[in-house]
Amino acid sequence: MSLKVLAVHSSPRKEGNTAIMVKRVFAELNAEGIETEMLHIAGKPVRGCMACRRCYENRNGRCVIEDDFVNDCLAAMAKADGIILASPTYFGNVTTEMKALIDRGGYVSKANGDMLKGKVAAAVSAVRRAGSLPTLDAMNHLLLSAQMYVVGSSYWNLAIGRLPGEVEQDEEGMGTMAQLGKNMAWLLKKLHGSNS
Ligand SMILES: Cc1cc2nc3c(=O)[nH]c(=O)nc-3n(C[C@H](O)[C@H](O)[C@H](O)COP(=O)(O)O)c2cc1C
Repeated sequence: MSLKVLAVHSSPRKEGNTAIMVKRVFAELNAEGIETEMLHIAGKPVRGCMACRRCYENRNGRCVIEDDFVNDCLAAMAKADGIILASPTYFGNVTTEMKALIDRGGYVSKANGDMLKGKVAAAVSAVRRAGSLPTLDAMNHLLLSAQMYVVGSSYWNLAIGRLPGEVEQDEEGMGTMAQLGKNMAWLLKKLHGSNS
């Protein structure tokens, strides 16, 4: 059975630092034969939660807002074995697009009996200087309360850089990403019965 990890990436810089970090995690997953895919949620119009609770009436795994990208992300997340939420640090928190996914995705998941339960998950964040820990916390709030298995690494899942590509110079940060990929692969294989 092939395993798959999906990353939802929320930087408007498609090839920026956060994407570079995710690709480092992916490299380790791919080395273990695990498929990977990255979805870019930024740069598309994304709306916040309306608190209408229609997800609790419909219970169809979807948000009632059908004219943006959140339901595409949720459908892909529901199919994946592992999930990475990836956001640059913006004023000490996630980007607006990621927050919309957290709020709406979190509610839809709850309305559907924790439909993302049991997935192997991690949050990662690129940062110039400070504020990445609240950013990681914000994403972990969804991952943990949705009953996913949140994976750690040799440090918190951050790397330092401002301009696109600068995280490559953060040896420790990129090492943290590599170890995260190894740890996710180990747990995925353990859960799905293919560890030697
Ligand atoms: C609107 C905005 C807010 C930011 N806020 C912070 C911040 O609070 N702390 C910080 O260290 N860097 C901050 N940065 C810098 C980014 O986190 C940093 O450049 C990061 O590498 C961007 O990742 P990306 O290339 O994936 O977009 C901010 C950048 C922008 C555009």
